Amino acid sequence: MSIFWSSIVHNLTPYTPGEQPKLPNLIKLNTNENPYGPSPRVLEALKAEAANTLRLYPDPNADRLKTAVASCYGVTPPQVFVGNGSDEVLAHTFLALLKHSQPLLFPDITYSFYPVYCSLYEVPYKTVPLTDDFEIRLEDYTQPNGGIIFPNPNAPTGRLVPLAAIEELLRRNTESVVVIDEAYVDFGGESAIPLVQSYPTLLVIQTLSKSRSLAGLRVGFAIGHPSLIEALERLKNSFNSYPLDRFAIAGAVEALEDRAYFEKTRNAIIRTRGVLVENLRAFGFEVLPSAANFVFVRHPERDAGELCRRLREQSIIVRHFRLPRIEQYIRITVGTDEQCAALVEALRGILGKVQGTTSCVK
Ligand SMILES: Cc1ncc(COP(=O)(O)O)c(C=O)c1O
Repeated sequence: MSIFWSSIVHNLTPYTPGEQPKLPNLIKLNTNENPYGPSPRVLEALKAEAANTLRLYPDPNADRLKTAVASCYGVTPPQVFVGNGSDEVLAHTFLALLKHSQPLLFPDITYSFYPVYCSLYEVPYKTVPLTDDFEIRLEDYTQPNGGIIFPNPNAPTGRLVPLAAIEELLRRNTESVVVIDEAYVDFGGESAIPLVQSYPTLLVIQTLSKSRSLAGLRVGFAIGHPSLIEALERLKNSFNSYPLDRFAIAGAVEALEDRAYFEKTRNAIIRTRGVLVENLRAFGFEVLPSAANFVFVRHPERDAGELCRRLREQSIIVRHFRLPRIEQYIRITVGTDEQCAALVEALRGILGKVQGTTSCVK
């Protein structure tokens, strides 16, 4: 606290990101990073960029990147907005498109940055409870609202809403913007991007942090009707003209264009997730169906906080949210086969299990 702080800063409760410990030999399954490196083409592009152009400002419009996103997703560049991570794209969206007199609606259990943006930008909001099975039921969003936002798959549950239900929501909800945060969609969901051609109220936000393994580069994008994109551009150009540096633009273009590498690595994660789920269930864990690169689990007989602590003693870190309804759940990022095998072995010791599990390591 300081007398120099504005009243806004006094009243903030900032988002707490998953920790990034500086410990060696850690098995880090706590922040949904991709265990594989980015495409080798990204690294080549970064080297070339470093050699040539760093004394110059980047393109403020990131036109090359918008063109790459547009061609990857079958839309036009005026339907694309890019930002410094999808967190920045989300932040601009809250202020530019979701701040109205009616409350913004989002699930009670979801990405915990949403209420933080609401408090920063004074966006009125109302949370809509997930079902007892942690599903988003879109019928519950048929009520007056200034906008709707949810991740699909949801975080931290990993549960997916089918595209048909989203289209039904868009048909019903025509007076406010619907934002689908598809940070994890490449791991088992069907993107709502094709629906932007028919529904001018839809904005889809994605990130290159997860399925394209570029969390360290900070690139996210939104796709929607050009009038929604224009609102985001107006806001961005009143905030920071150059949110994406030259590395981010050059690396992201290559990551989007190297389709073969993308398919290979995300398929590997999906395969590993299947084996991990089987092994966790064999240990008695309840595992929610996941369409993401993480699983959300609880053990009926073991305290979640205690399990996390015991795993940490063995240098394995996972995420535990001490929040109502989910305090007994653990979120585990799907790592490599070897990392997941190490997790399973550690849990076998902690739980005192003797039975066999499926081998993760091929
Ligand atoms: C649901 C969801 N949306 C958005 C983000 C932000 O991703 P980034 O800012 O790395 O693009 C995350 C990060 O974990 C997330 O879980």
